Amino acid sequence: MQGTFYVVGVGPGDPQLMTLKAAKTLENCDVWFVPSAFENGGSMALKIASGAVSREGKTILSHRFPMKQIHRGETPDPEVKSAWQKAAKIIMASLADGQDVVFPTLGDPAIYSTGFYVCETLQEYGSPFKVEIVPGVSAIGASSAAAALPLCLGDERLVVIPATFENERIRELLELSDVVVFMKVYKVMERLVGLLEDLGLVENAVLVERCSLDDQKVWTDVRDAVGQDIHYFSTMVVRKDRCV
Ligand SMILES: C[S@@+](CC[C@H](N)C(=O)[O-])C[C@H]1O[C@@H](n2cnc3c(N)ncnc32)[C@H](O)[C@@H]1O
Repeated sequence: MQGTFYVVGVGPGDPQLMTLKAAKTLENCDVWFVPSAFENGGSMALKIASGAVSREGKTILSHRFPMKQIHRGETPDPEVKSAWQKAAKIIMASLADGQDVVFPTLGDPAIYSTGFYVCETLQEYGSPFKVEIVPGVSAIGASSAAAALPLCLGDERLVVIPATFENERIRELLELSDVVVFMKVYKVMERLVGLLEDLGLVENAVLVERCSLDDQKVWTDVRDAVGQDIHYFSTMVVRKDRCV
């Protein structure tokens, strides 16, 4: 019988933020297919998963997914597409052997996760696989918790965007929304902070770096983070009504 493919959110870093269901799914699957950003590089998702579940006896298949921008509706970069295709083929082989495969992914699988691209690729190959998605604590909620800020109250509108958007789109979305969460801010801090200054919103921003990890840092004045070597695991919350 064909195995099941599980995409499991392991939360933002602290293994205690993994759900019981995520831990149980990892325990029950013999094959862990883990994403990493670099060849032979470590996998943060594997590190988090291993903090809660023993990997003894598990087959760990590490796979590199290049970190490149993806624009939905456009043909993906060939290197990215090829990584999805190779991943799908390896996963299909295990599923066809009757093994369940788990793909642990950072935060929540529904938010900018490679897990769904792999599911799409499995579908393109016509694989008769069963898939189950196990939600996780996203860096969005975890960062707002670290900053002790609500994400939305009452009739407030919340928008989540990659900070790599061009300034004009960011400006429009800031005008339309009450709260904006920026992900992937690490390479564009200077531009983003400059834009927030122009819009008079710089004091409404909080940056959370390596949320829930031992070296978590909350930047209450985001201007201080400009020119610093901000980690990839950094999320900014901009609330027009600072409220606390
Ligand atoms: C590819 S997205 C993955 C998001 C993930 N699926 C989630 O639900 O949190 C990567 C972005 O998530 C955010 N992120 C992930 N882990 C984080 C952490 N521990 N602290 C702050 N931000 C984090 C950063 O903005 C990072 O650039």
